[in-house]
Amino acid sequence: MRIIVIGGTGLIGSKIVTKLWASGFEAVAASRSSGVNTMTGQGLADVLAGASAVVDVSNSPTFDGAASLEFFGTSTRNLLSAEAAAGVRHHVALSVVGADRLAESGYMRAKFAQEKLIKDSSIPYSIVHATQFFESIQRIAGVASDGATVRVPPVLVQPIAGDDVAGVLCNVSVGAPLSGTIEVAGPEQFRLDELVRRRLTARHDSREVIDDPRARFFGAEVDDRSLLPGADARLAETRFEDWLARSMERAYAALRPPTPRMAESI
Ligand SMILES: NC(=O)c1ccc[n+]([C@@H]2O[C@H](COP(=O)([O-])OP(=O)(O)OC[C@H]3O[C@@H](n4cnc5c(N)ncnc54)[C@H](OP(=O)(O)O)[C@@H]3O)[C@@H](O)[C@H]2O)c1
Repeated sequence: MRIIVIGGTGLIGSKIVTKLWASGFEAVAASRSSGVNTMTGQGLADVLAGASAVVDVSNSPTFDGAASLEFFGTSTRNLLSAEAAAGVRHHVALSVVGADRLAESGYMRAKFAQEKLIKDSSIPYSIVHATQFFESIQRIAGVASDGATVRVPPVLVQPIAGDDVAGVLCNVSVGAPLSGTIEVAGPEQFRLDELVRRRLTARHDSREVIDDPRARFFGAEVDDRSLLPGADARLAETRFEDWLARSMERAYAALRPPTPRMAESI
C-alpha cells in the first residue's frame, strides 16, 4: 500500500510516516518542503499517482480565522480534486474534538468547513477527531499569553500524546474507509489551567498561568463540556506525567555533553 501523508513533515505527520514504514507500508511525506503545495496544487498529481490512501495532517500556518479558512478551504478542495483525478479511494483527515461546538473560533470554523468539504466529496473518507495534543500545550500557552501572563479558562480537557494520535491514524489509513468520524482522547482529564501550569513549570517557563473563566480558547467561549470527547471515544494509554518525564529526559539527554565512549564513536 502506498500512503501519502500530506503534512508528513509536521508533528503528527512525521510520526505517521515513521510508524507506517515500521509496519511495512510505503509512506510518502508530502509538504511544501518536498515540493508539494496543497494551496497551489504544485506536485499533487505526481505524488498521488498510484496512492491507495491519503492522510491529511497539514495545518494552517496561522490560527487567524480568515487565514485558516483560506488554508483549509483551498487546500482541501485542491487535494480532493487531485485525489479524484488520481483514483484515490480513501481520504483520512485529522480534526479537533468539539470543532462543531466552537463556531466562535475562526480556526475551528475552518476545521468544520474542511470536514464538510470531505463529507460532500465523492472520495470515501474517514475523519479522526482528536483532543489537544500534549505537545501542543506550549502552543496553547503561546496563543493565551499576554507578556508574562497566560490566561486560560479552567475548563476540563482530556489531552492525548501525539504518538497515540499517529497510531490511530495509521490504523485507520490502512483499513477500509469509515464513512464517518471517530473520536480519540487521552486517558485522564485535567483543568486546562493546571495542565498548562504543569507544562510550563516542567520547562522552567516563568510565565504566570491565571485561571480566568472569561478567557477564550482560540477565540471561543468554552465550558466543561466543550473540549471533552463523547462517551464512544477511543481512549489512548499514554498518561501525561509519563509523557512529560520522557520528554524532559530527552531534552536533558540532548543537552548533556557526550561521554568519552560516545565521543570516540562520533
Ligand atoms: N494541536 C492540537 O492539539 C490538535 C488537536 C486535534 C487536531 N489537530 C489537527 O492536527 C493537524 C496536524 O497538526 P500538527 O500540529 O501535526 O501540524 P504541524 O506540526 O503544524 O505541521 C503542519 C504540516 O503541514 C504542512 N503544510 C503547511 N502548509 C502546507 C501546504 N500549503 N502544502 C502542503 N503542506 C503544507 C507543513 O509542512 P511544510 O511547512 O513543509 O509545508 C507541515 O508538515 C492539524 O490539521 C490540526 O488541526 C491538532
